[in-house]
Amino acid sequence: MSIRDLRGRDFLCLADWDRREVEVILDVARELKARYYQGERVIPLLKGRSIALLFEKHSTRTRVSLEVAANQLGAYPLYLFWEQLQLARGETVADTARVLSRYVDAIVARVRNHETLLELARSSKVPVLNALSDLSHPMQALADILTIMEYKGGLRGVKLVFVGDGSDNVLHSLLIAGSMFGMHIVVASPPQLRPAKQILDAALREAELSGATIEFEEDPLKAVEGADVVYTDVWVSMGQESEAEWRRSILKPYQVNRKLMERASNNAIFMHCLPAHRGEEVTDEVMDGPWSVVWDQAENRLHTEKALLSLVVP
Ligand code: CP
Ligand code: NVA
Repeated sequence: MSIRDLRGRDFLCLADWDRREVEVILDVARELKARYYQGERVIPLLKGRSIALLFEKHSTRTRVSLEVAANQLGAYPLYLFWEQLQLARGETVADTARVLSRYVDAIVARVRNHETLLELARSSKVPVLNALSDLSHPMQALADILTIMEYKGGLRGVKLVFVGDGSDNVLHSLLIAGSMFGMHIVVASPPQLRPAKQILDAALREAELSGATIEFEEDPLKAVEGADVVYTDVWVSMGQESEAEWRRSILKPYQVNRKLMERASNNAIFMHCLPAHRGEEVTDEVMDGPWSVVWDQAENRLHTEKALLSLVVP
């Protein structure tokens, strides 16, 4: 496969991409990261391009890493907050996509409903990239996979235990990515919170090809035994505020704390996409403790996004 094949591709869900294509992104990310550390901050692979960053929800990492990524590639990032656009006054998503495609070379969007991304992609002439939806967060999964490779030397056979909200958007992307690369994934969650069927089906299809396994376990202490990676995310995601009380009550036994980390393998790492709600899904002791790789993980958002943009933006 030639790298040119990815030019112009939407990046909506990892299920639309195959393992070899994701490997290309990761290879380029490693190369750009190495060059960054050798002092080559600006590599103008996208000189003269403009990239719209359309946000319907809050963001720190995604917004900043994308703006910096675009700049370091020589492109111009335009941060567009939904509330300040005519979208908020009723202009349709489709019309907005048609107009933006006349000005920019790619649209990166963080949306409340995944359907909005599909609508953008249907009406846009330029590639549309998912910067988080209620369903998935594939850019996060790229950074997560790169981080695990750096710490564990590979992915095949690595046991990753996701503790907490089994219906989480970040978990969804991680399930597909981990399954592509032959990981052993265990989801420790209450039975009421399980992955969306379409995501689990896609992950299981990947697992069949790679030899990955996906298991569910209600008991978090049992689940983390022998874990190489313990991963969690917030209990109440953006847009789920009305379910906050119910979620906090059923997720209480799923806090990642010292006791849980001590059950994992000796060299286990702790990961979190961030932002963390310290004292809720994770304790300070774990966030700031010897297991935590969360800052490296956050940094890898920059390197993987540079790779992704350099490959897909025409
Ligand atoms: N992990 C992540 O996407 O963080 P932000 O919500 O700050 O962008
Ligand atoms: N699950 C979280 C992820 C934030 C990066 C949310 O959607 O709010």
